[in-house]
Amino acid sequence: MSPEEEHPGRPTPSGGPATYQVTFELPDGSSHTVPARADEHVLDAGRRAGLQLPSRCEQGWDLVCAVRVLSGEFDQSDSRRYFDQDREAGFALICTAKPRSDMRVRTHQSRAMRDARRARGLPAPRGV
Ligand code: FES
Repeated sequence: MSPEEEHPGRPTPSGGPATYQVTFELPDGSSHTVPARADEHVLDAGRRAGLQLPSRCEQGWDLVCAVRVLSGEFDQSDSRRYFDQDREAGFALICTAKPRSDMRVRTHQSRAMRDARRARGLPAPRGV
């Protein structure tokens, strides 16, 4: 499978990794669309664009960077702990999520993701 088939986004002019557009909806009501490569984490793409986004562990563990995914596909395999139920509930951990399509996310969802984990009897780190 070629890189283009594996990541069917828009290849860069240099033939590098596919690049997608990720729109961040922030708590102040603003939204910002930034490019994110298929081989980078969504958090890094947002920061490169100057967005102030919460994070702590940056290992896909403590849920501090949680977002609600409003649309789009992502690869969460870099996370230390991410459950199928997290995806079903519509959450991603952007410190360790790589885009697999254009995405739209609502940031600052750590509390909501923790509540969703607890409601499903799944572990949710305390103290964050
Ligand atoms: S910063 Fe800890 S899970 Fe993303």
